[in-house]
Amino acid sequence: MNRIKTYQEYLKCVEELIEHDRHYYDEAKPVISDYQYDQKIRLLNEYEERHPEDRVAHSPTQRVAESPTEGFSQGAHMVPMMSLANTYSEKEVEGYLKRVDKILEGKKVRFCCELKMDGMAISLRYKKGKLFHALTRGNGQKGDDVTANVKTIRSVPLALSGSHYPDDFEVRGEVYLTLSSFREINKEREEEGLETFANPRNAAAGSLKLLDPKEVAKRKLHLVCYGIGEGQSPVRYQHELHSTFRKWGLPVAHPSHVCLADDLPEIMAFTHRIEKEREALPFEIDGVVIKVDDLSTHELLGSTGKVPRFAIAYKFAPEQARTKILSITVQVGRSGVLTPVAELEPVFLAGSTIARATLHNQEEVTRKDIRIGDLVVIEKGGDVIPKVVEVDLSKRDKESAPWHMPKRCPICNTAVVHREGEVAVRCPNPDCFGQRMRRISYFASKHAMDIEHMGEKVVEQLVAKGLVSRISDIYLLTEKELSQLEGFKEKSIENLLKSIDASRYCPLSRLIMGLGIPYVGTETAEALAREARDINTLLQMGEAELNAIEGIGDKTAHAIFTFLQKKEVRQEIQRLLDHGVKPEKMKKKIEGHPLSGKTVVLTGTLTCFTRDEAIDLIKERGGKVSGSVSKKTDYVVVGEDPGSKYEKAKELHVEILSEKQFKEML
Ligand code: IVH
Repeated sequence: MNRIKTYQEYLKCVEELIEHDRHYYDEAKPVISDYQYDQKIRLLNEYEERHPEDRVAHSPTQRVAESPTEGFSQGAHMVPMMSLANTYSEKEVEGYLKRVDKILEGKKVRFCCELKMDGMAISLRYKKGKLFHALTRGNGQKGDDVTANVKTIRSVPLALSGSHYPDDFEVRGEVYLTLSSFREINKEREEEGLETFANPRNAAAGSLKLLDPKEVAKRKLHLVCYGIGEGQSPVRYQHELHSTFRKWGLPVAHPSHVCLADDLPEIMAFTHRIEKEREALPFEIDGVVIKVDDLSTHELLGSTGKVPRFAIAYKFAPEQARTKILSITVQVGRSGVLTPVAELEPVFLAGSTIARATLHNQEEVTRKDIRIGDLVVIEKGGDVIPKVVEVDLSKRDKESAPWHMPKRCPICNTAVVHREGEVAVRCPNPDCFGQRMRRISYFASKHAMDIEHMGEKVVEQLVAKGLVSRISDIYLLTEKELSQLEGFKEKSIENLLKSIDASRYCPLSRLIMGLGIPYVGTETAEALAREARDINTLLQMGEAELNAIEGIGDKTAHAIFTFLQKKEVRQEIQRLLDHGVKPEKMKKKIEGHPLSGKTVVLTGTLTCFTRDEAIDLIKERGGKVSGSVSKKTDYVVVGEDPGSKYEKAKELHVEILSEKQFKEML
């Protein structure tokens, strides 16, 4: 990007950034990446420094974040919440160190380096050790009062532990989402036909601003604390703040993510280490924050405008790649939502070869004007699947045309529908091969019934060959039928049948997940199972009863109730039960039993219990029952006339229990 030379260019850049602010803050749909935005802000800053007389009052450099959100009251910060200046190179960090040295006149300065969490800044005010309120940064002076929502974050202490905390003070930290929670939220949203979040930060910010705390609780937000209101610290050094916070019960960064550094080489060694570890972190960071460790010098260091001089951010440039869109295909989800996917000329990016990028929905394609044949910049965000950041318009083929979602389902050819208030279009045909396939593979997936050996490829064949058309058909599959599958021989057939059989005795929550009820993820399914205890009770629950369950808001309760009232859903559940699916009755777990966490295999006939009773008894004690013996098996219970599992157990030296020993253990 080139330096801004003229006043005209400056004004143009101001307007452009105001437009991007609008996309980002008002629409929550950024068009350019944060990195590109930062680069443009830097150009503005640079120009404004050279020509202070030209600076316009509405320049985006002058604004601090968000405007107040409707539905939240405002609270004032005791100490203003500032932002950080960004640097992108070693040279700039060096410049910063020199400025600090100059102000602190030859004093030895140490730095405390931390991760720059990519979430949403929050200020928690504790009065007499009790959480008084939680505010977003807002305009730096006043923020949205999101106390009710923050209280749903489990790691936030409502009362501090330990002692020697100030009487009334502010803890500064970041609310964030792990990548896996972020992906789960987006997956669910895509299935619901809702717009997906661009990155974990937007998802965290969006979650914190939900009006229903019950919905917030489902989002699994996390908090990490890294600061205290200026002048409020009882300890002298930033690095001590971390251990002090921990003593007070506040969540802090992992010690390996905080590093004291004496000079530029030490700072850079830390940033380089973190940049290498970044890919493997379970959350997103966008850089490292370098803070002057001695808090007592912060006041002296002062600030320039809205950024303090006691710290600086060193930001990582995102890894990007350029490639060509070969075609745009459309995928059908389990609830019929159509998702456009860019098929790319394969390109290497951040450790793997990328050949596809999700385009989310028509609106996204239109907003970025993405066309087949375009040369595009792709970036790996929090999504597993990378996204298209922007199109290189200078390389666009003159013949190219805007892309439109097909009017008919690409799989079953039914005319698509567009429900009011949704961005997605859907295939309305519940018998659509694509939908059926996804529903069945969702049922069998790890999150739901966890049927091993039944991945997407297998399901695709089962549905295509007409062997399975609804989930309950899975339990009717025979050896003969499975032999029709490509590559399926004796052993693989046996394995699949075994895992289908084992899934019959699943926890109730897994069966609930497998049904694919809108808005019901793992946590809600578990809450439902705990409350209802068995499937028939669940089917009898009214909307109000569902709504009364902790963690289930109005919208979800309504969706569950409506779904379970459907005749075809009830019939399908009955078929599952008829075909031998026997979800574990939720009983109070017996705590601390020797079988807790153990994997048990049953073989032969037991004389005192039926097989099902034995399974229930093991599960009540926190154990897991498996259909086959492996190195991971803890015990094999051997009844009369044991089969080959007994031999296998001996071979693998797995502990063998007679029925008598098993009874004693119970
Ligand atoms: S200290 C004067 N430490 O980055 C601001 N901020 O770009 C002091 N952030 O608003 C902030 N990790 O939301 C600090 N370890 C960290 C941080 C961090 C993430 C965020 C924070 C801040 C933004 C500034």
